[in-house]
Amino acid sequence: MKKSFFFICFTFFSCSLIVPAVFGQAGRPPATKTPGPANRSSHAGLQPDGNKPAWWKEAIVYQIYPRSFKDHDGDGIGDLKGIISKLDYLKSLGITAVWLNPIYSSPNDDNGYDISDYRNIMKEFGTMEDFNVLLKGLHERHIRFVMDLVVNHSSDEHEWFRQSRSSRDNPYRNYYHWWNAERGKPPYRYSLFDVNHDAWRYDSLTDAYYLHYFSRKQPDLNWENPALRKEIYGIMRFWADKGVDGFRLDAFQFVAKDTTWPKFPDGFEKDFFQYYAIGPHLHDYLREMYGQIFSHYPVMSVAEGAGRNMQDAHDLVDADRKELNLAYAFDGVSVPRPEGYKLSEFKEVFSRWDSAFADKGWISIFLANHDQARMVSRFGNDSPPFRELSSKMLTTFILTMRGTPFYYNGDELGMTNIRFDKIEDYRDMATLNDYQYQKNKGADMAAYMDFIRFSARDNGRTPFQWDSSPQAGFTAGEPWIKVNPNYPVLNAAAQEKDPASPLNYFRKMVALRKKNPVFVYGRYLDLDRENPVVYAYTREYRGQKMLVLLNFSATDAKTAIPVNMANAKLILSNYKDVFPGKRIEAPGGDRAGARIMLRPYEAIIYKL
Ligand code: NOJ
Repeated sequence: MKKSFFFICFTFFSCSLIVPAVFGQAGRPPATKTPGPANRSSHAGLQPDGNKPAWWKEAIVYQIYPRSFKDHDGDGIGDLKGIISKLDYLKSLGITAVWLNPIYSSPNDDNGYDISDYRNIMKEFGTMEDFNVLLKGLHERHIRFVMDLVVNHSSDEHEWFRQSRSSRDNPYRNYYHWWNAERGKPPYRYSLFDVNHDAWRYDSLTDAYYLHYFSRKQPDLNWENPALRKEIYGIMRFWADKGVDGFRLDAFQFVAKDTTWPKFPDGFEKDFFQYYAIGPHLHDYLREMYGQIFSHYPVMSVAEGAGRNMQDAHDLVDADRKELNLAYAFDGVSVPRPEGYKLSEFKEVFSRWDSAFADKGWISIFLANHDQARMVSRFGNDSPPFRELSSKMLTTFILTMRGTPFYYNGDELGMTNIRFDKIEDYRDMATLNDYQYQKNKGADMAAYMDFIRFSARDNGRTPFQWDSSPQAGFTAGEPWIKVNPNYPVLNAAAQEKDPASPLNYFRKMVALRKKNPVFVYGRYLDLDRENPVVYAYTREYRGQKMLVLLNFSATDAKTAIPVNMANAKLILSNYKDVFPGKRIEAPGGDRAGARIMLRPYEAIIYKL
């Protein structure tokens, strides 16, 4: 039964030295209008094979979900002043960039992914003055700022849409996609969030249907209209002039549509990427955006989603294409299932992406974001004996792979899924609408509740657990979504005091990556591919070689690898105590190679 639920729900869904190079004078925000591509890096003297250094390759991006991070004014909703109050915490992590989910004015049908004014701040989050203070505070701490830009769709409450729907001959009509009803019903399009999964919504005002790939309140913008595109570039300039350092383009692979609206084959929605991603002219739009924006501002650019295949991904980000910087692909986060997952699949996905991008282009590495349930609950083991160990092990993975890490807030504490029992506790419109859809078609709702306990986005959106005071120190009011009841034991304040906590381990890993360019640029080699529980790989760069060993299981495990461990130096381990007894057999290697023992969820890094 469980398998029958669609897994669409967004599986789609050093370095003080770095500072002057990146920001000019320490403490000063970057110049806003510097022309030319953003490619200065702390390792600019080094020339790794096929990969030119760039700050966004060396960045460690920390994603903040503003609604759930820290509430300052007590209304139960996180806000910009709350983030400002935690700037020193962000600095203490060592991260070098922050990606914030949308903060623009929004009626919040989809928590800010439905924008009603692209040049203003959502009232629940604060004011433009707060934004300016936040940006300055980040820059003073040498942290760059990546803005979430949602331009596949706007809110239906945006002035453009109000105008567009008002009459068929309104100048804004073509900012959106309309199908006049006298032509009959439009060809079926799947909507990710609609309660009937129907992406065309009838509007009696002009007797026409409008398109919404997401919710009814998120009408899709018409990128074929040059006037619309000009508006978007104007918005990007507005924020780039304020000094933002990057744009994350939400759902961008969907912006281009075949507006002859061909009929898609029955059941297309089961593989809708093939039909929705990288439509006609998408690359023309990106090249135009590059000419208008990216070639003039030193910003990084990443689009959500990387197309249908590796070629699409390369076409989006290879430097000679002059489109985007980074590919952000979902294959990795699509691996876990409620019934578990195979490490072989996990390794295969990450190895495949690494090898496809070994010489050209650049990817992101992540195991979670605001569209996913918690990393430790999906990829690790969140039961008390293993929660901390497995979350540190996963952190080791993210920070030792090639690609820019995007690390989700709260994962540094090992925050877990909340697993709501009642549908009334969920807040995400996508889950609530899908629940209704399943109910309408007579699905097994008990099985559905199990499914969302594992996969729902709200699992990753519960308030950040700052301390053991009421509401985990997130708010003095009533939080917009329940706090995970494990906060008295799982919180930042407690972890600050414990040198071996996931939080302090994250800091160590961040520092290690920043000090060792081998983790950014080094060649990756998967060593023990057939091992069902151990992930063993090396990273090698300019004469430096690191070995990473990760036990993905709750039992002792062994890896046999063709590596000479005779002079290996242990750099980091996620266990407090040293390994009891003999860890390495045949360190110099024999026919079977060196054999290394690992404890449950152990992660170790050796310098070879
Ligand atoms: C992807 C975003 O990450 C997600 O949160 C949002 O619901 C959809 N795009 C629609 O904007």
